[in-house]
Amino acid sequence: MIFAANFKSNHTRKTTKEYMQKLNAYKTEHTVWVFPPATALDEFKGSVRVGVQNAFATHNGAYTGELGLEQLDEFNIKTILIGHSERRLIIGETLGWLQEKFNFYQEQNFNIVFCIGEPLEIREEGVEALKRYLDEQLEGIDLSYKNLTIAYEPIWAIGTGKTASIEEIELTHNYLKTKFNSPLLYGGSVKVDNIKDIAKIKSVDGVLVGSASLDVDNFIQMIEKLK
Ligand code: 13P
Repeated sequence: MIFAANFKSNHTRKTTKEYMQKLNAYKTEHTVWVFPPATALDEFKGSVRVGVQNAFATHNGAYTGELGLEQLDEFNIKTILIGHSERRLIIGETLGWLQEKFNFYQEQNFNIVFCIGEPLEIREEGVEALKRYLDEQLEGIDLSYKNLTIAYEPIWAIGTGKTASIEEIELTHNYLKTKFNSPLLYGGSVKVDNIKDIAKIKSVDGVLVGSASLDVDNFIQMIEKLK
């Protein structure tokens, strides 16, 4: 299983360092990734892989407020989240923009975690609308890319405490799995109490965790559940 922690705009450089020390000292056969805020990026010793939550499709240049490859290279960062719903909805990243990022970081051979997920009104329209929506989010993305991971995160389940049901996850993941062979993560209110049931789903290869990953002991406790 892949356990990926997305800190979003939480933690500082100091607390991330403490977090990483503790997490790297914890031994597990599972794969663990952490996406700290940009100010906390660093080369940490240990097997936990550190990725960036976002970066611009550029080596460097005049893009105020954005990071390029040059800044990631300094810390040997080779993993990026692209298309998180918070970036699509709050920041307004368009599909064209995401495709550009994808192509750029694919060329750099990055591990790309590409995020997709529907809003509640689409889910309520039914299965066909859901499939159509997810298909559109994957348009123009090279699904045969060898370093690709997809994260399915229904927007209505993010930070709401409302997890998708096992049946809902299963149905969506099974559909997505017909489209690519990449690992598929589920995200949306994953926590210590539900990790075991979610991990039992055959088409779930890992989880992308927000709130429940912020406390390192809680995150480790979650991984421990799958011993
Ligand atoms: P929560 O685990 O807080 O619902 O966040 C999920 C998420 O958006 C991870 O990227």
